[in-house]
Amino acid sequence: MIRLTLFSFFLLLVFPAQAETPIIQYGDRFHPVVGRDGMVVSQERLASQIGADILARGGNAVDAAVATGFALAVTLPQAGNLGGGGFMLIYLAEQQKTIALDYREMAPAAAHRDLFLDDQGNVDKQKARFSHLSAGVPGTVAGLVEAQKNYGELSLAEVLKPAISLASGGIEVSYPLAYSLQRAEQRLKISQASAGYFFRADGSSMKPGDNWKQADLAKTLKRIAQRGADGFYRGPTAELIVDEMQRGGGLITHRDLQQYRVVERESVSGTFGDYTVVSMPPPSSGGVHLIQMLNILEGWDLKALGHNSADYLHRLIETMRRAYADRSEYLGDPDFYQVPVARLLAKPYAKLLREGVDLDKASLSSDIKPSLEQYQESPETTHYSVWDKHGNLVSNTYTLNFSYGSGISVKGAGFLLNNEMDDFSSKPGSPNAYGLVGKEANAIAGGKRPLSSMSPVILFKEGRPVLATGSPGGSTIITVVLQTLLNMMVFDMNVAEATAAPRIHHQWLPDLVILEPGIGADTRAKLKQMGHKVMPEPRVLGRTQSISNFGGPIFFGATDYRWPGGAAVPVN
Ligand code: DON
Repeated sequence: MIRLTLFSFFLLLVFPAQAETPIIQYGDRFHPVVGRDGMVVSQERLASQIGADILARGGNAVDAAVATGFALAVTLPQAGNLGGGGFMLIYLAEQQKTIALDYREMAPAAAHRDLFLDDQGNVDKQKARFSHLSAGVPGTVAGLVEAQKNYGELSLAEVLKPAISLASGGIEVSYPLAYSLQRAEQRLKISQASAGYFFRADGSSMKPGDNWKQADLAKTLKRIAQRGADGFYRGPTAELIVDEMQRGGGLITHRDLQQYRVVERESVSGTFGDYTVVSMPPPSSGGVHLIQMLNILEGWDLKALGHNSADYLHRLIETMRRAYADRSEYLGDPDFYQVPVARLLAKPYAKLLREGVDLDKASLSSDIKPSLEQYQESPETTHYSVWDKHGNLVSNTYTLNFSYGSGISVKGAGFLLNNEMDDFSSKPGSPNAYGLVGKEANAIAGGKRPLSSMSPVILFKEGRPVLATGSPGGSTIITVVLQTLLNMMVFDMNVAEATAAPRIHHQWLPDLVILEPGIGADTRAKLKQMGHKVMPEPRVLGRTQSISNFGGPIFFGATDYRWPGGAAVPVN
């Protein structure tokens, strides 16, 4: 894997202290950004820069991650947030320990199984996705504050300061922001508060170059800087949230806000060759299925098949189909439902699934069932990655669910509400917005966390972290992250190549494989011949933000250029 080439020789000259040669070679089509004293990669340039500045001032990876998280709440309103939730993996170099923070939204106490069913017993999508009922109790502020308190080195006020200045002093509207807001106009204007926050005073769209100030958001951020989580879950911000709920028929009460808890969970981990993959446990389905898929794939010589060859993609699709079938049955909030994690991750179970794959012919999803019982024991979210020079790192994915959540803002508080309640299974077999189905394990209940696909990952080799990555993309997150890992672990790509390489996705139901542009016409034809149902329109999948380090003080950062606006900002 380690190749000494012209380009890496150049790096050796620039960074003579470096112990090993990185996996970059002259002639690679895509090169990562290189940093020596740390790196921040996020979906929005200003927020990456703020994190990098915190690292340059001596903050650690958690300080930078919290600063970036709050900055994204200002600069990337479609996914950066105070009103949503997420998952943060933190690797502490000194203790050689990975922490998994669950700050996923919780259903308000008054939520119940049939919350989104109409008189006929059908799912009312409007109610589930675009109403005040769509909002789970936000977890982001509690999560970021707790990460800072337990693992940061600077003060909370210091890491919040840049976000407060951006909100009060205003930011220059970028082209991607103007474009994104314009596309969401109809949805945002259902909320009077959102109409006021995200459009000019005369109601017209903001244009690139406009200065955009967010005075109410700045006030909310200041309350958090002064009082920590109580600045959000109690006092004036809580009042504004509860008032908003009462005006719009939502369920979140003061008691729900006060009872919100961040949970530090044990991460899930698995092995693939020399690598160890560490990711988020339930209520994310990401970590479990990522490892389950790697367990299945490990039994084939993927490298010999060739990257993105039809035979390789066939094995990926069949693997994805089986993992997502299991997801629909066994995954939910572990505080409410006993998720059989160990059995799903067992190598013999993966072997059983692998042996069921016909290597020449596609299976039908209708023939594949969640099959753990056969094994007797034996459109937005955003990811960012931060790595500091001491070797600490953060891999964080958080979300409002859709782009701009439900579109509804909390009047006076300056932020959008999530519509994460749609991630529950509102009715057995009835697909959510990502086409995902589920049953009892993910039924709605007060205080429960909806099942997620968000999969922040830290990859280790020989006990050392070598990659932090993650992606948005709803149901496609898990398969996007899977392919990023395979591209590096099996096909020796550098992090920029691994990001750029064309991706595919299958999720059992619907029985359809999505191919990105870049998967060749003959591969597409061969997959069809094997019996795969291929989505006619190609579509882009995911938006990873990754950092790798294969030894020595050199960090390689790669933002995903499928969409504009992201940036890997090095500290040198
Ligand atoms: O938690 C989940 O799985 C979803 N709410 C994530 C939504 C998402 O990634 C949308 N982004 N494109």
